[in-house]
Amino acid sequence: MNRRQFITYSGSALIMAGGVSMFKSLDQLQTVEREKTPSFTVGLETEIADIVYLAALAPSGHNVQPWTVKIITSHHWIIGTDSSRWLPAVDPENREMMISIGAFLENLAAAASSKGYKAEIQIIAQSTKDQEIADVKLYKIGYSSNSLIQQIELRRTLRNNFLTRELSNEDIILITQGYQGDFLYYPRNSKESKVLTEGTILANEVQAYRDPAQQELAGWIRWSNQDSRRYGNGLTPETMEIEGFSRWYVKNFYTHQSVLEKEFREATIKKIKEQSTTGSGWLVLTSKDATVSELIQTGRNLQRIWLMVRDRKIALHPMTQVIEEAATAKELSSMLGITGDIQLVLRVGYVNHYPRPVSLRMPLQKIIL
Ligand SMILES: Cc1cc2nc3c(=O)[nH]c(=O)nc-3n(C[C@H](O)[C@H](O)[C@H](O)COP(=O)(O)O)c2cc1C
Repeated sequence: MNRRQFITYSGSALIMAGGVSMFKSLDQLQTVEREKTPSFTVGLETEIADIVYLAALAPSGHNVQPWTVKIITSHHWIIGTDSSRWLPAVDPENREMMISIGAFLENLAAAASSKGYKAEIQIIAQSTKDQEIADVKLYKIGYSSNSLIQQIELRRTLRNNFLTRELSNEDIILITQGYQGDFLYYPRNSKESKVLTEGTILANEVQAYRDPAQQELAGWIRWSNQDSRRYGNGLTPETMEIEGFSRWYVKNFYTHQSVLEKEFREATIKKIKEQSTTGSGWLVLTSKDATVSELIQTGRNLQRIWLMVRDRKIALHPMTQVIEEAATAKELSSMLGITGDIQLVLRVGYVNHYPRPVSLRMPLQKIIL
């Protein structure tokens, strides 16, 4: 290679290298959108594939999407779970996983009904570690006038910008009625609310420095757009509501290791302190015990409420650390004067603007067996 050829070669190589990284970093300005799997790729009628897609828009801890759908016939399925999507460090008994499956089943029933089907759901799991959880049969009953499809598609978890106004009486009744003491609302100025705020902050301080929990979280964060597209699950900068330049920065420069650094743990605790002092108050979901059917029912009740509240600009933010960490979980019931088992703690509050959902979902091929 002579000098002139060398200069031409090295110059183009530099442009190439610069071009690739520039492209990569520009790509991080984009938001990765949820995609809907075309029904022909999963071999189901469009209407049936739509029901599975809508069911899978349910919430789940760390957005692991623990559900699987075994198709026996197009109208008979077994809903199960994939143990590679469990969270043993924060949810060793699969309590929260069962709540997520309950939310999935509620979405499934609502989606089926919106498309003119009745979903007959029978719980078949005996233990929260069983791989097969529910038997579902769909029966065509005509067309429904009360479609919840929009509510299912627009529901999301919100974490920031909660207002501090208390819930109106009408909204408290809407959220808690029909759940005979299983849904408890504590307004922000109540002493129970103070217990929940302080407990949540303490539990996060403990959890942020509990390495197995932090390692597990790190494994479910998709920092770059490439990883978001590859996995279609987990938490992304968008779902964590990291905005503007910070979002671009973390997408380009944060890694699995960043989550284990002191700075990240401290920033998490700071954020939790800010979040947990805003909102109307707290919502505590209880059940009489922690059997599979009770946990599934808690998830179904949660989702039924979650689908209703968006129209009223009421946001929900599950904050589960206070029941995940022994340091706070043990005393919580007695401090709140609750006799049942506490299954979920959520912040609740009005927002001025309810943004569109940004959490990703896996393609249906990954959940259909
Ligand atoms: C059982 C359960 C526990 C959750 N725990 C938390 C939590 O502790 N902190 C949090 O920010 N979000 C929590 N979430 C919300 C999930 O992260 C969220 O549902 C998921 O990322 C999907 O986003 P989406 O709800 O906007 O669809 C939880 C959700 C469920 C169902």
